[in-house]
Amino acid sequence: MAIEDSSEQLENLASGIRRCIACRLHESRRLAVPGEGPANAEIVLLGEGPGGKEDATGRPFVGPAGRYLDKLLQSQGISRNRLFITNCVKCRPPENRTPRRDELKTCTSTWLERQLELISPRTVVLLGQVAARQMLGDTATVSELHGTVQERDGRRYFVTYHPAAALRFDWIAATLREDFEVLGKLLAQPTDSP
Ligand code: URA
Ligand code: SF4
Repeated sequence: MAIEDSSEQLENLASGIRRCIACRLHESRRLAVPGEGPANAEIVLLGEGPGGKEDATGRPFVGPAGRYLDKLLQSQGISRNRLFITNCVKCRPPENRTPRRDELKTCTSTWLERQLELISPRTVVLLGQVAARQMLGDTATVSELHGTVQERDGRRYFVTYHPAAALRFDWIAATLREDFEVLGKLLAQPTDSP
């Protein structure tokens, strides 16, 4: 599909997300957060759900976890505007609780899957346990899979910790830095190598 067409379709999805009332999370959100980045992004970063700053601005990863993520990307020379950054649920859960199974299912099947189909990225980076379970299945654990590429249904996933967890635990910060080194090398490879 031409890039203009997929950009327009991605923007149509974003408009739908901003008006969505398909699950209870719409009741307490201020702004839904569709995600942002180019429609031809090679990499999609997938978080859990918007926090306070995201809910107030409508943009993904712009709070403390986002600033940490920006540093990790910078350390690998990966520019944020090459990536599409989004979350499993597009509306902030009350008190930043973990999204529930039904909310995750509704939001990913209604929106995320369509975004991923349009963008068709080379790699989807799963940030944290919620994103990993949602895309790889209930038995997936970040502690076992972090730093590795997993294939599911013809899609490539790179698993790592959530940047918010790195702000709480030094050992996670160190592991996340190592994982991003691996990711940086993977992304430096030519597009046609597996
Ligand atoms: N945490 C997430 O999972 N996503 C954001 O957009 C911000 C914080
Ligand atoms: Fe719709 Fe997703 Fe928001 Fe639920 S979280 S209301 S499914 S956009």
